[in-house]
Amino acid sequence: MKSSTQQAIEITKANESKIGQVDFENLTFGNIFTDHMFVCDFIDGKWQTPKITPYAPLTLDPSARVFHYGQAVFEGMKAYKDDNGDTFLFRPDENFKRINKSAARLAMPEFPENYFFDGLTELLKLDNEWIKPGFGNSLYIRPFVIATQAGVSASEANEYKFMIICSPAQAYYSGDVSVLVAEKFSRSANGGIGYAKAAGNYAAQFYPTNLAKKEGYQQVIWTDADTHEYMEEAGTMNVFFRVNDTLLTAPTSDRILDGITRKSLIDIAKKEGVSVDVRPVKVSEIVAAAKDGSLKEIFGAGTAAVISPVKAFGYQGNHYELEKQENSFASLFKTALMNIQYNKAEDPFNWRH
Ligand code: COI
Repeated sequence: MKSSTQQAIEITKANESKIGQVDFENLTFGNIFTDHMFVCDFIDGKWQTPKITPYAPLTLDPSARVFHYGQAVFEGMKAYKDDNGDTFLFRPDENFKRINKSAARLAMPEFPENYFFDGLTELLKLDNEWIKPGFGNSLYIRPFVIATQAGVSASEANEYKFMIICSPAQAYYSGDVSVLVAEKFSRSANGGIGYAKAAGNYAAQFYPTNLAKKEGYQQVIWTDADTHEYMEEAGTMNVFFRVNDTLLTAPTSDRILDGITRKSLIDIAKKEGVSVDVRPVKVSEIVAAAKDGSLKEIFGAGTAAVISPVKAFGYQGNHYELEKQENSFASLFKTALMNIQYNKAEDPFNWRH
């Protein structure tokens, strides 16, 4: 359902830009933020005048619902700049739909479409210098909604803040990652909130991920909560397996995030003539494929990580290394995807915005 409201954005510009203090050659993901932020409050049953203000800390009541009951959802998107200095978003309508889907699951109000897009457009105009051209450079955009109503009664809030903050980004992971296949912990369950981009889904991953790190793995591949027999998704990414020349990935469900990079890759792969099998993927078949050499690649796909090749995985105390592939699917698809994102190629899918 679309909703829109009519108020113009109130803009207060920062007196001075921080951009001169930033070393754009050595960015670590998500630590530096641009000069401005977008804020819109939900009070008295409606979204108030949207604002763009200088980036600054918030003041919230310590009893605000977000701190106690975790009513918080977010999105991850990126802006790219081509060699002519033009700025592009990648499938932003999908992020807009998804943040409202996530919000609905957490009993939060839907955000109006025109505020979302007008807010993004104005923010990206004001902070445009922060978007650097060149493959791999981008501005990571983080829209989010939090429950701000004071009071610890355990019910949904009636006041919220929708915000957008932006952070210049390069690679999320440096180099290929190793992953541990979960045998005990789960990311989500049927009927739960796994499909939503809810803050709590990420909080619940940190502890098992820390255990995996102690074993030398950077991420966990989550398996289904019922049996732990099926591969689901990795911590910040959906996950793909290449067995011989077929690409396998789990179908989205209550438990699995409907990743925008994931679905774009499926379309790109099909267009490249690669056979794609979207079906439940058994851990045992991937282990068997690793043993007989038919497992050629594993890679994660997500907005922040783009496409992140997996070099090894652990399962039941065994460690499986993957051989580096020449002309890997991961690099083929990554190039095809980035060519679209950076306006270096035709966009047959109409994804560039
Ligand atoms: C994204 O890819 O945008 C994500 O949501 C990952 C994030 C948790 C770093």
